Amino acid sequence: MLTRRELVQRGAFGVSMLCLPSELRTTSVTSETTAAATDLLPFQLPLRIPPVLKPVSHKGADVYAVTMRKAKQEVIKGKQTDIWGYDGMWPGPTIKARRNRPIVVRFTNEIEEPGVGNPEGKAVHLHGGNVPADSDGHPTHGKIVPGASKVFDYPNAQFAATHWYHDHIHMQTARNIYMGLSGFYLIEDPHENKLGLPRGEFDVPLMIQDRKFDPNGAILFNNRDIVPAGDVMIVNGTQQPFFEVARRKYRFRIVNASAAREFEFDLSSGQQFVQIGNDGGLLPAPISVSPLALTQAERADVVIDFSQYPVGTQVTLRNVANGGVPLDVMRFDVVREAEDKGSTIPATLRPVPELRREDAVATRDFVLSFNPLEREWQINNQPFEPERPDVFPRLGTTEIWRIRNDTPAVVAHSFHMHLVRFQVLTRNGDPGLVTAGEKGLKDTVSVGGGETVEIIARFGDYPGRYVFHCHNLLHEDNAMMATMEVN
Ligand code: C2O
Ligand code: CU
Ligand code: CU
Repeated sequence: MLTRRELVQRGAFGVSMLCLPSELRTTSVTSETTAAATDLLPFQLPLRIPPVLKPVSHKGADVYAVTMRKAKQEVIKGKQTDIWGYDGMWPGPTIKARRNRPIVVRFTNEIEEPGVGNPEGKAVHLHGGNVPADSDGHPTHGKIVPGASKVFDYPNAQFAATHWYHDHIHMQTARNIYMGLSGFYLIEDPHENKLGLPRGEFDVPLMIQDRKFDPNGAILFNNRDIVPAGDVMIVNGTQQPFFEVARRKYRFRIVNASAAREFEFDLSSGQQFVQIGNDGGLLPAPISVSPLALTQAERADVVIDFSQYPVGTQVTLRNVANGGVPLDVMRFDVVREAEDKGSTIPATLRPVPELRREDAVATRDFVLSFNPLEREWQINNQPFEPERPDVFPRLGTTEIWRIRNDTPAVVAHSFHMHLVRFQVLTRNGDPGLVTAGEKGLKDTVSVGGGETVEIIARFGDYPGRYVFHCHNLLHEDNAMMATMEVN
């Protein structure tokens, strides 16, 4: 299969090298360092595993409650970093749900931001969720002001998958996620449970992000410049952690939750990842892949088998994107023997229900571009306007969307749709340029500079207004978002 790097090398994206102002070159940051970053020793703290949230009651559905709070967290060894977290944690507590078993979550906002004024407030979005419009966390209508709560219905009528919840407030999403407002939402289903994949303590979520810190460990954020692409790698709210593993198979659910960075992961030992899932859940069959490319908000479920290493081996997970110096992300320390009876990677995982081209009732074109006069990112030459619906798909129908990246530079866009899980048909007209990891159901796809990606989606199960946008959070906050009204 082709990796994204090979596609770039083949010139598949037709990249033109026109320069952009420095604040727009947000996807190509590699080796920029700060004093803080170079001073930090890696692998000082163990991997943090977010606790699984417990229901507060079972009235009608499983009912959960989460409070957004300011807190301090040891992100860097020996330092207390101010964060904003769901239940005061970064990542927030993991929500575990089951297919077709609805849950209800009451989110309360206790984060005051004196002096911020109008945008003050938070919106909670379940990324990957098939949810009614009023539970989708709209950037303006979904706003939860300090002191207020909002109840969200999550029906979970969808396949097992690794999703995540995160802030989505109008124009401040990058900052709010940067401060920590992100957590895992994992759906399981009986089909997946029967496959024999690694489970329990051997099924580990990894939220991978980058940050900048000042020498005291404070998070530095300034969305007017390039800062959100930080130089310090963070996994589950900890700087470059280590994780002690047994000599057996593990499942890792990886989310690229960074603001603007594209990752390409490899293992220092040269071992390939066995990818079993992506944004929409299980792939049709496992694939071997390295490097593993993930653009902003994409997910990959992978299995790594540590049984080939003797106890005492250390294997580093690295980011080798952009041809830069590899950045160490975290380290796996093989420390003990363990039984691995019954955990397998089956040769087939889940047949993906094909959406067929001939079933599409409409084809729509979207152009992603930068407007130098307005200094904003746009979809079809328009900035996001929360009250303006842009397209009107009919409920229950299937459409093809052609997304063209017209940015005159090496800037990829991470195209994300709410409500639906789509399939990627072609890249630059060629189905062969869709990678094996992009097969199956997705909600986010990378559209490289100069590239056109064709996707197909069915617009069920809920009517109403949903946004779609670039998931580079700086682009998203700077107008690269639009609204579909499903009816
Ligand atoms: Cu990850 Cu509109 O969201
Ligand atoms: Cu989303
Ligand atoms: Cu973008």
